[in-house]
Order: sequence, then structure tokens, then C-alpha cells
Amino acid sequence: MKVLGIESSCDETGVALYDTERGLLGHAVHTQVAMHEAYGGVVPELASRDHIRRLIPLLERVLEESRSTRGDIDAIAYTAGPGLAGALLVGASFAEALALALDVPALPVHHLEGHLLSPLLADDAPAFPFIALLVSGGHTQLMRVTRVGDYQLLGESLDDAAGEAFDKTAKLLGLGYPGGPALAKLAESGKAGRYKLPRPMLNSGDLSFSFSGLKTAVLTAARAKALTAADKADLAAEFQEAVTEVLAAKAVAACRQHRLPSLVVAGGVGANRRLRQRLDQAMAKIGGRVFYPALELCTDNGAMIAFCGAQRLLQGELPVSAAGAFVVRPRWPLDQRS
Ligand code: KG4
Ligand code: ZN
Repeated sequence: MKVLGIESSCDETGVALYDTERGLLGHAVHTQVAMHEAYGGVVPELASRDHIRRLIPLLERVLEESRSTRGDIDAIAYTAGPGLAGALLVGASFAEALALALDVPALPVHHLEGHLLSPLLADDAPAFPFIALLVSGGHTQLMRVTRVGDYQLLGESLDDAAGEAFDKTAKLLGLGYPGGPALAKLAESGKAGRYKLPRPMLNSGDLSFSFSGLKTAVLTAARAKALTAADKADLAAEFQEAVTEVLAAKAVAACRQHRLPSLVVAGGVGANRRLRQRLDQAMAKIGGRVFYPALELCTDNGAMIAFCGAQRLLQGELPVSAAGAFVVRPRWPLDQRS
């Protein structure tokens, strides 16, 4: 069965074709980073318009890459939420219209479920059950994944998501958008420990996170004096240490509490090298290991959506809405995914 995946929840347009027998046949992503850069963040209306422009060329590229035609598509999975309402609507209406034209089912997919299952696309995939650390621009969550569709939320951020904290702190330090990768790069040349930033909720005894205070602590340091390039690098390094220390400690605590040796990391912040280093070390210490999606599948993409839709179809789930009638859900908690 060949499932087409469509992702358009934010600033990346992703299209992919996944075959339940042969694996990922092709995938293509267009990132809007250059377009939003001038505004210092994502402009939703521009994002929606750009998704419209990109979807058909991306679909054609993926079909060519996978030596397939539209007639080979057996089902279409698309991101129905959470995300920007207009951006979601573009992908959803494209997917539903194409499904209607091809007379195949269209399946709404939860964006975070896509991220969560993306490490399963690798050859060396973890076995169920496992703990998942979801760290993206909008979410920081620890989940117990018992099987596809069975997710238990163990803890999440009470305020800013980890990626959001990276982005906001990067902005404070005068770095461009998207801030996460820029801040991580700057941190490499800095020295952690010269500035002292808090480790929020490290010893709270639960699996919750809080990152908004860190950003304020960076702001306070930045206001105390004019920062030199070296000061900024040291602050970036200390900030990265603080975030990754808390993320790693809580992820390992979740694995211990549930006596599970496999930790899956998904979402854009999962690309952070320091986080990977810390998680690998901490999990090895308790005899476990960490599974990551391929680096190119850490950030938003269509492959994870196609894969997620395929898993749901394999489980016998069929779309409930009448063809052509669909909704998007800009806010949609994953544990409320039915
Ligand atoms: O999963 P994703 O592509 O989109 C959302 O669904 O949010 O995650 C994007 C987030 C952004 O906040 C970005 O700054 C962050 O992931 N990010 C990073 C790195 N690469 C991306 N944060 C820290 N270090 C990185 N290397
Ligand atoms: Zn995402």
C-alpha cells in the first residue's frame, strides 16, 4: 500500500510517498526559512500562500523520485493539527481534493504523532513500548508509547516549549530566525559556567518542565551590561547546558520510572548535538539507549505523516468523515487523539 503524506502545519511544506512493503520511496521538503527571515519569525498568511505554491511541484518531484504516478497512490495522509490554521487548511484541502479525484481515502494525522513515530522509519527502530521525548517549537512532552495510537502523557512544559525557549533566547542575543540552530552553533564557541543560569524544575520530583524563566535570566544578564561577542557565546553555551541538562534528566527519570530501556527523541530540538550527547550518556548509564529519527526527519516533513497514516490504516482505521468534509485542529492535545 502506497501512502502519500502531506505536511503543512507551519513553515515547511513536506510531501512523501511511503510504501508499507518497501518503506520510504521518496520525500521532499521546502522550507520557508528564507521568506520569514526578514520578519524575525513565521508570518502565518505568507506561510499559507507559500504552501499553496509548493505543494504541486513537491508532489511531482516525489512521484518522479519514487518512480510512481498519481494512480499508484492508495491513500493520502495529511497533518490536520496542531499548527497554524491557515497553513493546515492548505494541506488539508489539497489532500482531500486529491483523494476525492483519485477516489482513495484521506486520513487526518496528528502532527506530533508523526514526530513521535518518525524514529520507526529507521532500519534500526525501537520496539514497543518506549518513552518518547517530544521537543519541538510548540511542545515539550514526555510520553509513554505502548503501541501506535496508545500514548500516555507523563509530563510537559508548563510554559514555553524547549524550541520556543531556544528561539526567544536567540532573538534576545540578536541571532536570526530560526533561533535554535543559530544559538546551538554559537554555543559551540562559548564556555558554559561563566554565567550561572537556573536548571528550572530539575528537582521538582515530577516530569514537568518550565523554560520561560531561563529566557528571563538571559534577558537580565543581557541588560546588566553591553554583551561582547564572547559574552554572547558564553551565555548561549550556558543556556544550552541548562535546557539539555533538564531535558536529559527528566527523560531518563521517565525511563527509570516505567522500567523501559528505549527512549525515542523527536521534534526539531532533537537535532541539537549537545542534547543527543547528554541523552546517549545518561541512557547508557542505566543500560538503555536512545533512538533518533534521521537528522533530515527531525524537523517537519511529509515522511513522518505518510508513515503515521500508513500505520493507522494498517491498524484498520478508516477515515470517518464523508469525502470532501474535513476539519483542521490548530490546537489538539495528542492524548485526545481518538
Ligand atoms: O519540530 P519542528 O521542526 O517544528 C515544530 O513542530 O515546532 O521544531 C522546530 C524547533 C524550533 O524551535 C527550532 O529552533 C528548534 O526546533 N531547533 C533546534 C535545533 N534545530 C531546530 N533547537 C536547538 N538546537 C538545534 N540544533
Ligand atoms: Zn513539528
